[in-house]
Amino acid sequence: MVKPFQFARLPMIYFGSGKVNELPGIVSYYGKSVLLVTGAGSFINSSRADTLLLRLEEMGLKICQASVTGEPSPGIVDETGRRFGDTAVDVVVSIGGGSVMDAGKAISAMLGKNRSVIEYLEVAGDKEHPGTKVPFIAVPTTSGTGSEATKNAVISKVGKDGFKRSLRHDNLVPDIALVDPELTLSCSPEITAAAGMDCFTQLTESYLSTTANPYTDALALEGIRAVNRSLVRSFTNGDDIHAREDMAFAALTSGICLANAGLGAVHGLAGTIGAMFNIPHGAVCGTLMAAANKVNIRELRRSGNGDPALKKYAALGSIFSDTSAKSDSYYIDFFTDYMTAATYLMGMPELSRYGLKSEDLPMICSQSDVKNNPVQLSQEMMQEILLVRL
Ligand SMILES: [Fe+2]
Repeated sequence: MVKPFQFARLPMIYFGSGKVNELPGIVSYYGKSVLLVTGAGSFINSSRADTLLLRLEEMGLKICQASVTGEPSPGIVDETGRRFGDTAVDVVVSIGGGSVMDAGKAISAMLGKNRSVIEYLEVAGDKEHPGTKVPFIAVPTTSGTGSEATKNAVISKVGKDGFKRSLRHDNLVPDIALVDPELTLSCSPEITAAAGMDCFTQLTESYLSTTANPYTDALALEGIRAVNRSLVRSFTNGDDIHAREDMAFAALTSGICLANAGLGAVHGLAGTIGAMFNIPHGAVCGTLMAAANKVNIRELRRSGNGDPALKKYAALGSIFSDTSAKSDSYYIDFFTDYMTAATYLMGMPELSRYGLKSEDLPMICSQSDVKNNPVQLSQEMMQEILLVRL
């Protein structure tokens, strides 16, 4: 039996080492004016950026540039929209990590609208985005969020009255995802670890989501196989291009999966924590992953061993184990052991390092949406997850 499902459109995907060299030709297809959105990271100061800008100029393109530092805030999106609203921008290109891609995605959706992005955010706003936008090309330089394949841009305001809300529309899936693993070679071990654990969490949560479908399942397992081969390798040897290729593929795949299957408790909690505290998204996901899945598995086992989600956990464990013909229980425990080992090996930080205190936990849990988690979690169970990593 196949349950009813929807599957969002995909970007045109260009994947492979060296693909960034094709970017000028792709950009010129859209017109004569490009808005380039980059971060404070290494790309814009690299010789690659010099070469790209030179080639775009040689092709006669007018180049506008915007820089995004930190999380994409409503202020950055609105200010950039105002700055270039009267300019005839034919295409927006984001080259950077998840924040830069989300910012560019939102800017492409807000150019020319003369309104604040806040009006269109889920929960925080009261308008539905019409889905009109300037064409958008996403070029990731980290292997993490998968924003290059998703239909939402996460916009954040950090603080006690902060929020982390999505601008979402099916039309906001990037027109093109250009994924060149060579661009991730310069990622520091710390960023590689946080991004990699985010991607690992996204694949796991979308595979276990109550709204998963046969396509997302097949893709998620393929992404998890790449994680098994290369999560640790990309962290311990950042120059290993084959490991970088695997993780770039896993991240892209995780974006496709989460856009179509949703996520679970880790991302529900991470969204709330990320709005209240200045903590990198990948770090909070990575640090909570093992603890949350242990509680999930305990509760699924408590309700009897017949839940299909336990079969899925066993399938995940069998990818990481190099033994065959063991019991489901063996593979499930193997998977939790792997996640726990990865948490420590990848140096995932405790939450208190970013200012979380035990008295913050009830509010965090009461505001977190964990509805697609494979098992219902009580407020106490969510607090238990956070306490383990406080
Ligand atoms: Fe994530």
